[in-house]
Amino acid sequence: MQSYSLFAPAKINLHLEIIGDRPDGYHQLVMIMQSVNLGDIIRLRANGMDEIRLFCQNPEVPLDHSNLAYKAAYLMQQQFPKSAQNFGGIDITIEKNIPVAAGLAGGSTNAAAVLVGINLLWSLGLTQPELRDFGALLGSDVPFCIAGGTAIATGRGEEIEPLPDLRDIWVILAKYSNLSVSTPWAYNSYREQFNHLYVSDSQGISQRTHKVHSGDLVKAISRKNYEQIGSLLFNDLEKVVLPDFPQVKALIDAFQAKNVLGSMMSGSGPTVFALCNDKVQADAIASEVQKTVNNPNLNCWVCKMCSHGIVTL
Ligand code: C5P
Repeated sequence: MQSYSLFAPAKINLHLEIIGDRPDGYHQLVMIMQSVNLGDIIRLRANGMDEIRLFCQNPEVPLDHSNLAYKAAYLMQQQFPKSAQNFGGIDITIEKNIPVAAGLAGGSTNAAAVLVGINLLWSLGLTQPELRDFGALLGSDVPFCIAGGTAIATGRGEEIEPLPDLRDIWVILAKYSNLSVSTPWAYNSYREQFNHLYVSDSQGISQRTHKVHSGDLVKAISRKNYEQIGSLLFNDLEKVVLPDFPQVKALIDAFQAKNVLGSMMSGSGPTVFALCNDKVQADAIASEVQKTVNNPNLNCWVCKMCSHGIVTL
């Protein structure tokens, strides 16, 4: 087959805990990640030339080598030069539905789709762990995005352990179109303010990781106790992002004032999510919050947790 279309879901973090610094300059994390069914559509086609070409209607998406989807295709060309020679270059078309620079892993899930798609396009027969290893070379969230669903991510974020599926919770995503938060800025600010709390010894790191593994949120996920899941949301990066972005804090407060299961910032933000039991309630709360906030730059999406990452269409 000469072309593939893939669905690339966004993610939210139900838990994001910063444990300490790593020798590679990143942070040691323990996160609980969750895919949602708001996603981009990625189309891959062998173009019979040498080039990798990117196409996207959204002007916020870079179409050059800085795009993670481009980097993913380039990585595969470097890793599999014979296949690259046989099949030639690749056209990658991104239908962007996930808000850009939003803390929803939009770029990472596009890169994950390119890895999965090229594996199919070139019949490479790579396994999920092999694809995850390539993903880790591109970004910390890419390995999770490949299989998606519900998972614990540790290390830099690239070590993934699946958790029982959650799929009956509705998710409102809310983002100001004129607001973006730099992920390196958020992590660096956290380091500046909280590095006195960092744990660096391997025993301390594994204790903190184990605490999440055996903790209440994982138990609530196993029992599908949605009220408890909503009450146990946790994100260390809120400590640095919310004081600098009061609009994001106000948005969380606006959701928490409604009858939601819980509300929090996703990743390094600025997207806020709120969890609801059903779609009718989620739609109603999304429009009520839009009215309360009354800011034309605020966009809301109602979607659902989903149990998969990249899938072919
Ligand atoms: O891996 P990725 O390129 O997505 O990370 C973006 C930035 O987020 C990094 O440059 C780093 O500043 C920060 N980060 C971190 N520790 C992690 C993951 C990300 O400090 N585990």
